[in-house]
Amino acid sequence: MNTLSVNHLLGIKYLNQKDIQLIFETADHFKEVINRPIKKVPSLRDITIANLFFENSTRTKLSFELAEKRLSADVINFSSAQSSVKKGETLIDTVNNILSMKVDMVVMRHPNPGAGVFLSKHVKASIINAGDGAHEHPTQALLDSYSIREKLGEVGGKKVVIVGDILHSRVALSNIFALQLQGAEVMVCGPKTLIPKYIDKLGVKVETNLKKALQWCDVANMLRVQNERMDISYFPSTREYTQQFGVTKDLLDSLDKKITIMHPGPINRGVEITSDVADSKQAIILDQVQNGVAVRMAVIYLLASKIKQ
Ligand code: NCD
Repeated sequence: MNTLSVNHLLGIKYLNQKDIQLIFETADHFKEVINRPIKKVPSLRDITIANLFFENSTRTKLSFELAEKRLSADVINFSSAQSSVKKGETLIDTVNNILSMKVDMVVMRHPNPGAGVFLSKHVKASIINAGDGAHEHPTQALLDSYSIREKLGEVGGKKVVIVGDILHSRVALSNIFALQLQGAEVMVCGPKTLIPKYIDKLGVKVETNLKKALQWCDVANMLRVQNERMDISYFPSTREYTQQFGVTKDLLDSLDKKITIMHPGPINRGVEITSDVADSKQAIILDQVQNGVAVRMAVIYLLASKIKQ
């Protein structure tokens, strides 16, 4: 049967390898659709989706909204900055009020790890986690793997290094799970203070020398330093971080192979990556953004078909 093993997308850790394969095959179809002159299909005319953003977002919010509209779903948007959450309403009350307006699916970004799991146990709707604190960001990891598959043919057997602020990154954790599920080898690289102590238990390699990490990998996924999640200093200065962990064109040219550079955005040009690297042919950053719409269409479509069953 061509259906997902889950009713919600709460994290990559709840998926199996077949789920990822099904999402990618469905995304291939939608990628073809969004490159047609009429970029829309009527599949979800009977579905209403609420996008609930309790934390800032540009790419992810627009990408979900576009994916929903290209599937012809009805869409409502909510951002906590302008809402009654500030007046003391609980998450469950906020969401149940929205659901009583006949909403079938909730896409939620929230600063608290586990917020999506919590909600899925208390409300009647299919939940998609669009980032829960420093925990998981499953659709980002799916679009990252989809972009590697598109660029290099497959994910299995590839060597991927995730560089930067691993400690505070939901993108890192979801990517580790997704890449391993597909048989890729994963390394993390960054200042020791930004690598979680339990990282060995996840079965990833650790390297603190950026050049060695880049020399090892086929793909480097560069992360932003998540200053908003830090209440202390994890490295002496941004300048020193960049000197040790920033990717420059000179560094890339000094390797004996051409590696692929990824970044989930937003980029801090000149910090984790220089402009000439971000804009180079080796970078697939804008392909990731484009693929994000097709991958999110696939996830929404597959979860909606479970609601209809
Ligand atoms: C990431 C996020 O919000 O977790 N961005 C994104 O979703 N494209 C990474 C980041 O904020 O650095």
